[in-house]
Amino acid sequence: MLIQNAQFVAGATGVNNCPDSDWPEIAFAGRSNVGKSSLINTLLNRRGLVRTSSTPGRTQMLNFFAVNDCLHFVDLPGYGFARAPRAVREKWQPMIHDYLKRRDNLRAVVWLLDVRREPSREDLQFLDGLEEAARPTIPVITKVDKLSRNELARQLGVIARATGLDRELFTTFSSVTREGLPELWERIEAAIGADDA
Ligand code: GTP
Ligand code: MG
Repeated sequence: MLIQNAQFVAGATGVNNCPDSDWPEIAFAGRSNVGKSSLINTLLNRRGLVRTSSTPGRTQMLNFFAVNDCLHFVDLPGYGFARAPRAVREKWQPMIHDYLKRRDNLRAVVWLLDVRREPSREDLQFLDGLEEAARPTIPVITKVDKLSRNELARQLGVIARATGLDRELFTTFSSVTREGLPELWERIEAAIGADDA
């Protein structure tokens, strides 16, 4: 998709105050610090549109971005950030799950895993939640620039085994080298039914 414009719209604290819109929506999820905001910036070719940080757990709302006045991207709060206050963590989880279950506009969830990590219990719980909500999932393994090709092949095996997903289902991605960018856009376009956009 050629990006003509992309801008921040609003942060929502729950499914009830998401933008009132009939645009299709793609959400981006994964543990804190996995690289969600960086991936969105890379997809939109806007370096600083979505705030990224080396301090995990900063994104606390469902952050909506308008793309080409026809599509929303939603940057979800990262799960699994141990240092976030418990009260905060306990609010996020129901908020995310409620959004996944109830938001009609949502067409697919791009689910990110860090290539260097074994999927955590929270990752696997999140995957269960996606399956329960029957949401089409686009699994992405990110930060692949951090490993050699041999290490990458080995980690793909580890991650496929842990998640029970076929390794062919994962798009490998890097916000640094932009590897995987055309493939990810193709999958997003297929999910919103806009393959000729
Ligand atoms: P939260 O919003 O806190 O949940 O984090 P996030 O998932 O949005 O991660 P973010 O995009 O802020 O990236 C976290 C850190 O990882 C930053 O220091 C990024 O520069 C780095 N990072 C993200 N993607 C990549 C990548 O593909 N390769 C490398 N080498 N670093 C990356
Ligand atoms: Mg973020």
